[in-house]
Amino acid sequence: MKVLVISASPNIDGLTAACAASALEGVHLSGEIAEEARLNDLDIGNCQACGNGWGTCYNDHLCQVEDDFQALHARCLAVDALILVTPVYWGEVAEAAKAFLDRLRRCEATRRAESGLKGKPVIAIAAAGGSGNGSITCLASMERWIEHVQARKFDFIAINRWTRPVKIELIRQSAQLMVQVIKEGTHAG
Ligand SMILES: Cc1cc2nc3c(=O)[nH]c(=O)nc-3n(C[C@H](O)[C@H](O)[C@H](O)COP(=O)(O)O)c2cc1C
Repeated sequence: MKVLVISASPNIDGLTAACAASALEGVHLSGEIAEEARLNDLDIGNCQACGNGWGTCYNDHLCQVEDDFQALHARCLAVDALILVTPVYWGEVAEAAKAFLDRLRRCEATRRAESGLKGKPVIAIAAAGGSGNGSITCLASMERWIEHVQARKFDFIAINRWTRPVKIELIRQSAQLMVQVIKEGTHAG
């Protein structure tokens, strides 16, 4: 089994990075493979809204804007589960996450019941700053994304500087639990 952790912070030692490390550890503790894709290390631009609003995403379910998107799209389809970790920027997911998730949604939501992410468990994590404002709206936008691509909502975790010690541990446990649930096959019901 393989789980892909997708993180969206430019900081390699910030809160998002700590969340991603904890998620990876949880999967590893379960004896399974976990990989991280750091979006800020990749070249993934915004959706170009090709044509009259739809490009090849609509019929071919592939993005025609060529950059690092295609390889990460393929990795998302190949894994058993996803863990999305983003800093909260303006009450939303960070720009790097928005760019990637928008394009992935176009390619997979248009497949409807044939979505390559259908039924795939997802843990969504919003890492907020001092105010903690916007954690819920950030998680809500990830929830809509999960619904659009017909993935499965496994967990939603908001973390900030106050809750950090508890939530870092919770992320590890949630990742472990997700692996266990996938192994049991009970996530599919
Ligand atoms: C452009 C920008 C917008 C932000 N907006 C919010 C916000 O709406 N709410 C919040 O709690 N923190 C906000 N923050 C703070 C980050 O969410 C916070 O610092 C987070 O921990 C960053 O993760 P990092 O440590 O991985 O960089 C913002 C930070 C930036 C750079």
